[in-house]
Amino acid sequence: MHIDPLEKKWAYVILAMAGLFVLIIMIDAIFHSINPPSNVETINSTSLHLSEEFAEDNLGVQVDDKGNITVRIVAGRYGFYPKQITVPSGTPLTFRWASMDVIHGIHLPMTNMSTMIIPGYVAQLTTNFPKPGDYPLLCNEYCGMGHDHMWSSVKVVAKEHWAAPVKTASKGDSSHE
Ligand code: CUA
Repeated sequence: MHIDPLEKKWAYVILAMAGLFVLIIMIDAIFHSINPPSNVETINSTSLHLSEEFAEDNLGVQVDDKGNITVRIVAGRYGFYPKQITVPSGTPLTFRWASMDVIHGIHLPMTNMSTMIIPGYVAQLTTNFPKPGDYPLLCNEYCGMGHDHMWSSVKVVAKEHWAAPVKTASKGDSSHE
């Protein structure tokens, strides 16, 4: 079988590109801990507000007795609740996400935080923000007319300036209690 030399050359170029992409994925996975989320946990999305974990009063940043920090956020058309969270830098954080309606996605540019939030499942991932700053939190899964406006932000403050949140009476509507 005859293969044109030019065709052969391009075949090598394409193989090299495919190899490069695999290499980039492996480097990200091994050195930057960028992995597909592997948590499989189900939840009833239609009654999130009645669930223990994702009830309105339990959302946001929580610290357990061992000092582990968990952040719970509900995504719904078209916002993330609570709207604003403040977390410490240089600290392992576990984020747990649930959707109250359709599929949403989250993306925090320049971090390893990116996942789909599928109704019926809890999306969990861990991260560690090395530097203080305001990180934009974007919905990256088309979820309807308001998708473009579905964003929020995560405020990261230096570890020594961060104080565990004190639970206050929740504002916002309590019509669904
Ligand atoms: Cu939520 Cu797009």
